[in-house]
Amino acid sequence: MAINWFPGHMNSTRNAINDRMKAGLDVVIELLDARLPGSSANPLLAQLTAGKPTLKLLNKQDLADPARTALWLAHYNSLPDTRAIGLDAGNKAPAQALIKACRELAPLRGGMVKPVRVLICGIPNVGKSTLINTLVSKRSAKTGDEPGITKIEQKIVLAEDFYLFDTPGMLWPKIAIEESGYNLAASGAIGRNAFDEAEVALELLDYLRRHPAYLDMLKARYKLGEVAGLNDEELLTEIGRKRGAMLSGGRVNLQKAAEVLMYEFRQKVLGAISLETPEEFLAWSAVAAEREAARLAKAADRKKRVKGPATRAERDAALAAAEGEASAGTDDQADDVPADVPEDVSGDSPV
Ligand code: G4P
Repeated sequence: MAINWFPGHMNSTRNAINDRMKAGLDVVIELLDARLPGSSANPLLAQLTAGKPTLKLLNKQDLADPARTALWLAHYNSLPDTRAIGLDAGNKAPAQALIKACRELAPLRGGMVKPVRVLICGIPNVGKSTLINTLVSKRSAKTGDEPGITKIEQKIVLAEDFYLFDTPGMLWPKIAIEESGYNLAASGAIGRNAFDEAEVALELLDYLRRHPAYLDMLKARYKLGEVAGLNDEELLTEIGRKRGAMLSGGRVNLQKAAEVLMYEFRQKVLGAISLETPEEFLAWSAVAAEREAARLAKAADRKKRVKGPATRAERDAALAAAEGEASAGTDDQADDVPADVPEDVSGDSPV
């Protein structure tokens, strides 16, 4: 899917995380969207904080399918140096549980001399501000007046021996897993101007109808009859008709129908839905990794062929031919990656 975004803060946030790693860090809290845990995990973060114990917080669990959240929690809790907790960011008691979990992940830290230093990260809109506001009680300090090591890092003292370092929500430059792009867009993590809503709504419908429980939710909400004979666009048209998204002349406004569907998914009007299981996400990752490997092989081959000819004129001609071939290709997104980002960062999104 084409996503036209400028990953704001990406470089400055990346530098801040690097600086925090050097200055001292005991645990990384990764705030994930419980409806799409794999897709909302930033692959850059795993690279930048490699080797640090991680607490995965599956936020917005009130919106997610509980059976699937249980699968994701079991998956993460089976990984080394990793704990996972489901959360509603506005709910105080479970939020406090994260402090206990961090202490368990850093058993050698604690006390005034060796405070537990925790970095909290998450993609935009995942609920980080809500969670921090829930955690910050009257006794703890949210410290504009006690900055961290960079201007953009905020140090929050949750207990006298427990510091939380907050960085701005960070996306990554190229989403290698196609399904993740759609899921991030459907969840509201990506600004609506950056993608085609009708395309995302059609993908959402396609996913929902392939899972019987979710298809039943669609049928119930939109009072649909048998939909097996309809393609995705016809189904969206039917939903638009049922919800009164009409143009003059009795035609359905597909754009409006797409907006209604996405709004009702996000607000849980359809029901508690998650857009991926660990198994599905691993399969999507494998396909994306294969595609990336093929792309890199093609690029290497192109370079080799261009290097071959002896004279400058021959090299220029070969280069022009190779560029012609490359621009004729459809899947090659190398140009989407800003020059300062290593190519391999977007290829392997860890679960
Ligand atoms: P951020 O700092 O990570 O960017 O996210 P923020 O806390 O601002 O939360 C983004 C939206 O998600 C907010 O809704 C917030 O109320 C909602 N939210 C956060 N945590 C939870 C949760 O556990 N469950 C549910 N259901 N919602 C949660 P908003 O202000 O209405 O913004 P928007 O949805 O209109 O963007």
